[in-house]
Amino acid sequence: MKKIIDDTIKYIKEFFEEEYSGHDFYHSLRVYELAQKISKGEDCDIELVCLSALLHDVDDYKIVGEQEKSFKNARAFLQKVNYPEDKIEKICDIISQVSFKGKYTVTPNTIEGKIVQDADRLDAIGAIGIARTFTFGGNHKLPIYNPNIDYKDIDCSQSDYKKPTTTINHFYEKLLKLKDLMNTETAKKIAEHRHELMLNFLEEFYKEWNVEI
Ligand code: ADP
Ligand code: NI
Repeated sequence: MKKIIDDTIKYIKEFFEEEYSGHDFYHSLRVYELAQKISKGEDCDIELVCLSALLHDVDDYKIVGEQEKSFKNARAFLQKVNYPEDKIEKICDIISQVSFKGKYTVTPNTIEGKIVQDADRLDAIGAIGIARTFTFGGNHKLPIYNPNIDYKDIDCSQSDYKKPTTTINHFYEKLLKLKDLMNTETAKKIAEHRHELMLNFLEEFYKEWNVEI
């Protein structure tokens, strides 16, 4: 197992060389590490967890485009290293279920999928989550905050869901919801502290915005 993991880490390091969208090599590496931590409390196939975590973003729509649903990057890499075809299918299934898409979000039907989804979500909250969100906001030229722009309803259409509003709104549209959506007990525990940190951050943010401190 060591060799395939090392090869995959090398592949994603090269793959994300020029990516600064918040999907980057270190995000994938953190998801991989978090997924291993969560796995300790679960009965799962650790190799599938590790590979799916490392590869979970190489076919993301923000990178490969909207229409691409064939996971061609993950598939091409795994085929190149002669990984068994049946396991490649399992990994593609896991990756397809991981991402948060507003009301179209799914709960993965395998424990491996649930673990990787939790790991990906944990990296979207807390201090790292705040940093990634503002990086995304800067890249998409979003205002930091605008009291006159409402946040989107979770029930909006998928195309509306992808239209960003302000970076602060994203906390209400996604980040503050994630704590209650964790699948595993380990992730729920880690999420508590990260959630609290975001609430404190927002409280301070509004105080400074209104020049109360
Ligand atoms: P993930 O890697 O968890 O699938 P996403 O693809 O949803 O994450 O987004 C990557 C990063 O950009 C995350 O930290 C996320 O919170 C942030 N992000 C995504 N959409 C927005 C948005 N509309 N406004 C601000 N930040 C966003
Ligand atoms: Ni991710």
